[in-house]
Amino acid sequence: MAEQVKSKKRVTDHGEVFTNEREVKAMLDLVKHETERIDSRFLEPACGNGNFLAEVLQRKLNVIDQRYSKSQIEWERYAILAISSIYGVDILEDNAQECRERLFNIFDERYTAVFRDKCQDECRRSAKFLFGRNILWGDALDFTNPETKQPIIFSEWGAVNGSMLKRRDYMFKFLVQQTHQFSMFNDEGNAAAIDEPIKDYPLVHFLKLGEDDTNQL
Ligand SMILES: C[S@@+](CC[C@H](N)C(=O)[O-])C[C@H]1O[C@@H](n2cnc3c(N)ncnc32)[C@H](O)[C@@H]1O
Repeated sequence: MAEQVKSKKRVTDHGEVFTNEREVKAMLDLVKHETERIDSRFLEPACGNGNFLAEVLQRKLNVIDQRYSKSQIEWERYAILAISSIYGVDILEDNAQECRERLFNIFDERYTAVFRDKCQDECRRSAKFLFGRNILWGDALDFTNPETKQPIIFSEWGAVNGSMLKRRDYMFKFLVQQTHQFSMFNDEGNAAAIDEPIKDYPLVHFLKLGEDDTNQL
């Protein structure tokens, strides 16, 4: 079983006690349907090394394996969509980094197990880019980076026409505090309150994420 405590000091300073796997699974079973929906969004706001996010990713990949392992392009497309909807933030930089690497390794092991030498580096690059953009080093209480004091910015990823992704960046603070809203019509034509993006990006192919600086971190 993985260690739940790294050091006494980290427990005292940051309340860092990791949740064990059995509890993670039991808690996620309470929202089982959502954990198995490929594009459902999960944010772990004090993610540590990603115990909840790792299990969510595994469950989503189980569904993708069942449905799409006969078509590599479909498997890749849905895996990138699954990854794009997984978010985390932690106040300790090493935790955020460990979480990114852990999630990437889960993806990579599962990808390699299914497609072996047919795996494409550009799919791995897109996955790595998304973990870099979605798993952030930040303080979830004041919504800033603890060192730079810059606001935490999360990216929303939406699938368009199958293979394209739309990125919109939002300030975490406004997503949580529900300020700076304006009314829009949602897909069903009903009025909906949404937060104003601070940046809107051109569509990008799901295998081109991180290819150039138009999709900067
Ligand atoms: C109890 S651990 C839980 C970690 C993980 N969610 C789990 O269940 O295994 C708490 C985590 O919150 C982080 N943390 C503490 N204060 C925080 C804050 N203000 N903003 C973001 N993360 C914070 C710690 O670094 C630690 O990784």
